[in-house]
Amino acid sequence: MQIGENLKHVVALLGSPRKKGNSTVLAKQIIQGVESVGAKVETVYLNGLNIKPCQGCYACKKKNSTGCAVDDDMQSLYPKLVESDAWIIASPVYWFNMSAQTKIFMDRCFALWNEDLEINPMYKKRIAIAMSYGDSDPFDSGCVNALRSFQDAYRYVGAIIVGMVYGSAEEPGEIASNAELMAQAKEIGKKLAVN
Ligand SMILES: Cc1cc2nc3c(=O)[nH]c(=O)nc-3n(C[C@H](O)[C@H](O)[C@H](O)COP(=O)(O)O)c2cc1C
Repeated sequence: MQIGENLKHVVALLGSPRKKGNSTVLAKQIIQGVESVGAKVETVYLNGLNIKPCQGCYACKKKNSTGCAVDDDMQSLYPKLVESDAWIIASPVYWFNMSAQTKIFMDRCFALWNEDLEINPMYKKRIAIAMSYGDSDPFDSGCVNALRSFQDAYRYVGAIIVGMVYGSAEEPGEIASNAELMAQAKEIGKKLAVN
């Protein structure tokens, strides 16, 4: 892919159990931005999948490993994660951090990571983050803890966080009335899809 070229394929990983929840609304705005510049998005509701927590077996790090040893729905997700140009990750704040669904997904991505950048599929992966929380303040809500976790993790693996959008809302979908956030999310989508 050349610099300035639009990305081809984006995976949206939605970490709320509420299919019409606020973080999903933000992610859908990002998706609209992505699609507006011609890229394709595949949406994955993490809550609907059978994804077990990482078992810490390190099978994925052994010599000649074929990857993660846990036989569940991550096995069909891994190739999509590897082949996509960019990821959108959306999560509500649960107990001052990301949702468990999102965290389990993050842990299982350990199987993708390799310190040899040539074979680390997360290296230079473009990433957009969307988060929602009930408190009025991003610090008091714990949203900042989650954002910081994403920043640390994706810096470590050499990925690029292109943008983060986050806001306060309680009832499912309520965040859609925040026009400023909606516009911000769409812009992040456009930025995500242009290398
Ligand atoms: C189990 C649970 C834990 C929560 N913990 C927090 C929290 O620590 N801080 C906060 O501001 N809101 C918290 N909330 C509120 C949600 O973050 C808020 O409703 C958010 O908009 C939900 O996003 P969603 O609609 O995408 O699921 C919590 C909600 C639930 C159900």
